[in-house]
Amino acid sequence: MQNTIKFINEKTNNFKPEIGVILGSGLGDFVQDFKSISIPYSDIPNFEVSTVQGHKGQLIFAQINGKNVVFMQGRYHFYEGHSMDKIVYPIKVMKKLGVKTLVITNAAGAVNKEFKPADLMIITDHINFMGTNPLIGENDESFGTRFPDMSEIYKKNLIKIVKDCAQELGVELKEGVYAAFSGPSYETPAEINMIRKLGADAVGMSTVPEAIVANYCDMAVLGISCITNATAGIKTTPLSHQEVVETANIAKNKFQSLLLKVLEKI
Ligand code: HPA
Repeated sequence: MQNTIKFINEKTNNFKPEIGVILGSGLGDFVQDFKSISIPYSDIPNFEVSTVQGHKGQLIFAQINGKNVVFMQGRYHFYEGHSMDKIVYPIKVMKKLGVKTLVITNAAGAVNKEFKPADLMIITDHINFMGTNPLIGENDESFGTRFPDMSEIYKKNLIKIVKDCAQELGVELKEGVYAAFSGPSYETPAEINMIRKLGADAVGMSTVPEAIVANYCDMAVLGISCITNATAGIKTTPLSHQEVVETANIAKNKFQSLLLKVLEKI
């Protein structure tokens, strides 16, 4: 960890980010209009290389509306074969760099029958169906306690800020529970029916490990999903990654303006 922090501090001239943002599908080019310092994951000691189409793989440091922000342009997914340790390593790095608030974005399938493609959903809570937990293993007390509370990962004050921003922009927002499976296969109709009965509104293959670790490290978490597709059992055509990427692009402008306003208000 120390060599990672030393490397980043040298590259950024000791830039101190207060907010971290994980840019999910469709938000990849969010930072392009801002003056920034980018460091490819492949250059950073102890970082893995991300392999998914539509995910670039670099840390970007930028000052946006007077706030110091670090962006993850591209994230690690469990289905890529990375260990949970590697997936959440950047979150621990953000903590060490001084990040207090983590904004997590993603693309997700609609489990709630009221949701439509290109809707945005505030994550109010999550269900971990990944079959593992990023905190398994020896605990480093310098980050957090062995048995961390998870009763309010997604902070109500941040949710309120997003709702106010959306109202100002005239953007309609959904809210609900995000369930994560490991992927990479999409869900079966039976799996979607099951998680709907259990209270899920959206489904995806990321976010949950990052949110668990951020909350464990005492960072305030905000989660926003871009609903990119109907899911099995409702959808009448097969689902493809291309469809997910295309719909994320359709929602891109409203997602970006919402994120920009939220960064102003946090
Ligand atoms: N299922 C899982 N992950 C996803 C989906 C989905 O329907 N859409 C985008 N990511």
